[in-house]
Amino acid sequence: MIFDTHAHYDDKAFDADRDRLLPALNASGVALIVDPGCDAKSSRAAISLAERYAFVYAAVGIHPEEWESCDEDALSEIRAMAEHPKCVAIGEVGLDYYWDDSHREEQKRLFRWHCELALELEKPVIVHDREAHGDCLEIVRDYPGLRGVFHCYSGSAEMAKELLKRGWYLGFDGPVTYKNARKTLEVLEICPPERMLIETDSPYMSPVPMRGKRNDSGNLRYVVEKIAELRGLSAEEVERITLENGVRLFNIKNA
Ligand code: NI
Repeated sequence: MIFDTHAHYDDKAFDADRDRLLPALNASGVALIVDPGCDAKSSRAAISLAERYAFVYAAVGIHPEEWESCDEDALSEIRAMAEHPKCVAIGEVGLDYYWDDSHREEQKRLFRWHCELALELEKPVIVHDREAHGDCLEIVRDYPGLRGVFHCYSGSAEMAKELLKRGWYLGFDGPVTYKNARKTLEVLEICPPERMLIETDSPYMSPVPMRGKRNDSGNLRYVVEKIAELRGLSAEEVERITLENGVRLFNIKNA
């Protein structure tokens, strides 16, 4: 039984077969999924999937790459959707200096707005941090009560230690199976199993040997196998522990 804590099934890559794929995944052992939104429209789509499928949950938020298209209406819609009973987190939100390095202040303001919403609603945050480790850490330090996951963690082992000390979880995805994964594997070695989450980021980031193809939660077994091998656990133990972690962080009842 697997919990994919980060998969974008609202993405157009799934338009042709979403309603066949989701029940099939559920039948083959994918017990729970969180679908995070990236703007108001995809957050709305994530909520509607969560309403249709009992095992799918949603997160809502504006991704840093979308800062420019984000207006007051979008923010008030995010705020309203965040109170939906199947919205279990605020995300994915954060900072992305890889795609856009010239609007750091705008991205930071938007990230802080979401952190404050998460604190107010007592929900965790799903953080997207790409080439913005120092600033993400600085913002997270400003909200000591805030909890959540650094999705597809790509920072240093040093930063991981501080996040873990502050109660955060780390998300591991397909890249742990890549040849150049050395830095992420170092983090995987020091992360206590009870703070690991596994994610696909579907339709992106397919693990080896599916790299280059559309990703889905069925491929999480490659990530599970890598973690199991590295930590001397069985695949079943990795699945069970990461599922329990996700249920705890996202406060999922009746799982
Ligand atoms: Ni994502």
